[in-house]
Amino acid sequence: MLFNLPPTMPFNVDLLRQHFPILSQTIEGHPLVYLDNSATTQKPTEVLTTMLDYYQTSNANVHRGAHFLSNNATSQFEQARQNVANFIHAADKDYVIWTKGATEAINMVAYGIEQQLKPNDEILISNLEHHANLVPWQQLAARTGAILRILPLVLTEEGNVLWQDSYQDYFTAHTKLFACTHVSNALGVKPPIQQLLRLAKSVNALTLLDGAQAVAHYPVNVDELDCDFYVFSGHKMYGPTGIGVLYGKTAALERLTPYQTGGEMVASVSYDKTSFNQLPYRLEAGTPNIEGAIGLAAACQFLSSLPRNALLAWEQELAKKAYHALQQHPKIRLYSPVDSTMVSFTVDGISSTDISEFLDSRGIAVRAGQHCAHPLMTSLGVHGTIRASFACYNTLQEVEGLITSVFEGIELLADD
Ligand code: ALA
Repeated sequence: MLFNLPPTMPFNVDLLRQHFPILSQTIEGHPLVYLDNSATTQKPTEVLTTMLDYYQTSNANVHRGAHFLSNNATSQFEQARQNVANFIHAADKDYVIWTKGATEAINMVAYGIEQQLKPNDEILISNLEHHANLVPWQQLAARTGAILRILPLVLTEEGNVLWQDSYQDYFTAHTKLFACTHVSNALGVKPPIQQLLRLAKSVNALTLLDGAQAVAHYPVNVDELDCDFYVFSGHKMYGPTGIGVLYGKTAALERLTPYQTGGEMVASVSYDKTSFNQLPYRLEAGTPNIEGAIGLAAACQFLSSLPRNALLAWEQELAKKAYHALQQHPKIRLYSPVDSTMVSFTVDGISSTDISEFLDSRGIAVRAGQHCAHPLMTSLGVHGTIRASFACYNTLQEVEGLITSVFEGIELLADD
């Protein structure tokens, strides 16, 4: 435990911030207020030093060399796989396939099942997806003649999903795969995953959850979720960029035709034919991102060393404070639910990018625009939103600074 706190105790955010040196800088005279955590989180020194240490002491290629350094690198790399498996409660480390990130993991499944799809098979996704969990399925449908269907989850005024019996009608004997976000990147909405997974299983569809926005905040237990695939990226959970995970049950992973071929993923090769290696290596062609895997495992260890329930409660508290303050302004419309870890909002008559540029001039980093979720923004009838997304190291003062600056920005930029 990093801070010697029992899991039920609140943590000390000032101490926590000391693990993130990047946060102590000023931007043109303003202290940096980093509220773009859904795009990527900052990295704690534990992750940075683990990766540096790997390069300074153990760098070698894995699974290949019969020498000390290679054995050392291999054992750190496979231990990282075990640690990441433990973090998401996967029953076996071989259910963890390394990828570049959530996007590559989804593409790996989309290409992997291509030969099993035929015209008029259906791929079902929700209307909350970002492009990473939409475009690969759309392209798969175009290549195979399958049909991409959109499950129209209904959002309440409060930004929650309203259950409708009609959702059931979208799951049919034609549904071969159901892919859904665990937490929406643009709005912070959590779809009713258990109920949707039950519907998908009732028609024997493969199930894939996009956990990119979930893993940094919510404890994830893939065993309990009982989905076939779960994907996420390291960089959104305090780990490095360029590394992510495709978790899969053995039977589901075995259905995947390797998306890439080459070294590492083979058992034997002749000029006539190749036989593939066993899982997980069968799906990991080429030299892997060794330091990325080790860095991601360090991020898991960092998070696990903290009282996660308290971190989540803190992030929700920050978002709730921001939500209630923004709600007071007559020009502001909120799209995120009050209990999420972000606020996504628009300002009447002012573009989201104008507001974000004003915030940037105050050292406040948010994301504005369509959040790689164009169809969702279209269905909401907006060109984009301003999204302030919180991490465990954010503070109440930062929320106050955000609110003050948003209100000042509106004063300055409004026509009336
Ligand atoms: N999907 C990332 C975001 O929501 C890039 O910002």
